[in-house]
Amino acid sequence: MAILVTGGAGYIGSVTVERLEAAGESVVVLDALGRGHREAVTRETPFYKGQVGDRALIAKIVAEHKIESCVHFAALAYVGESVEQPEKYFENNVSQGIAFLGALLAAGVRRFVFSSTAATYGEPERVPIDEECRKWPKNPYGWSKLVIEQVLDSYDTAHGLKFASLRYFNAAGATERCGEHHDPETHLIPIVLAAAAGEKPDVPVFGGDYPTPDGTAIRDYVHVADLADAHIRALEHLRKGGSSEFMNLGTGDGYSVLEVIETARRVTGSEIRIRKEARRPGDPARLVADPAKARRVLGWTPKMSDLASIIGSAWDWKKRNPRGYFAS
Ligand code: UFG
Repeated sequence: MAILVTGGAGYIGSVTVERLEAAGESVVVLDALGRGHREAVTRETPFYKGQVGDRALIAKIVAEHKIESCVHFAALAYVGESVEQPEKYFENNVSQGIAFLGALLAAGVRRFVFSSTAATYGEPERVPIDEECRKWPKNPYGWSKLVIEQVLDSYDTAHGLKFASLRYFNAAGATERCGEHHDPETHLIPIVLAAAAGEKPDVPVFGGDYPTPDGTAIRDYVHVADLADAHIRALEHLRKGGSSEFMNLGTGDGYSVLEVIETARRVTGSEIRIRKEARRPGDPARLVADPAKARRVLGWTPKMSDLASIIGSAWDWKKRNPRGYFAS
C-alpha cells in the first residue's frame, strides 16, 4: 500500500514527501514538472512525470502501487498570473482536479488530503480567520481552490470520499534538503533573502498605508515542515475513520512586512535595503489564522514556526543552495 503525492516535486509537496518517508510511509510522486524540480525528490522515490487529469495514468499508478490515500498538491499557485490568465487556473486546478478525483474514485481511493489556501477567504470578514468565515476569493486562484473544496464536499455526500482540506496561510522556511525555489519568485521571504545575499539591491515594500501598526501588510508565516506534519496527521485522522474537514494551517501570529525584514536583518547580519512601493493589487491588509480547529481535530501545533527559525532555515538552505535546485 502506498500514498500518492501529486505535486511532490513542488515546495510544500517535496517536504511532505520527505516527512512521510521519514515516518515509514511508502510514497509515489506524480508531478508534471511544469514548476516543480525533479531534484526535490530523491531517486529512491517512485516518480511519474505526468498530468493529474490523465485518467489512464492515474488508474495505472493506483493499480501498480496499491494506492490507498492521496495528498494532492499539484496546482498552479500564482495569484497575479491567475488574474491575467484565469483559463489556465480553471483548466489546471479545476478541470484536471475533477478528472483526477473521478479517476481516484473509480479506482477505489477514498482518502484525500487537499492543498487549499487562505486565499479562499478573500478579504476576511474578521481576523483571526476561523473556518466559518465567509469565503469569497478575490482572484481566480482562490476560486479554483474553493471550487475543488465544494466538489470534495459533494463527493463525500454522494460517494463517501473522506477528505481533509488544509487551508495554508503563508508557507515559508526550509528543511535540510528541500527549500523554496520559484521562478519567478514573488514571495516575501525569498525576496528578502535574495537582497540579504546581495543578489538584489533592495526589497520592494508593497504598501505603507495599511491600517496596521507600521502601515505594512500582516501575514501568518508557517514553517513548511510544520505544514508537512499537518498532512501526516490529516492522513492518520482519515485512516482512523475521521470525518471530512476543512482546516486552517497557520500559527495565529501575524507579522508585518517590515517585521519580516527586520528579523531577516538580525538572522543574516545583512543590511537589507528597502524601497517603498504602492500596494500590490489584491493584497488584503491582514491575514492571520485561527488555528484552533487543526489543534482540536489533528492535535497539530506548529513547532518550528517562530519567525526567526523560519527565516534562519530558509537562509541556511539558500547558503547551501545558492542557485536553488539549479546546479551551481
Ligand atoms: N511583499 C512585499 N514585497 C515583495 C513581496 C511581497 O512587500 O517583494 C508583501 C506582499 O505585498 C504581502 C506580503 O509581503 O503583503 C506577503 O506576500 P507573499 O507574496 O509572500 O504572500 P501572499 O500573502 O501574497 O500570498 C500567500 C501565498 C498565496 C496565497 C496567499 C493566501 O503565496 O498562494 O498567501 O492569502 F494565495
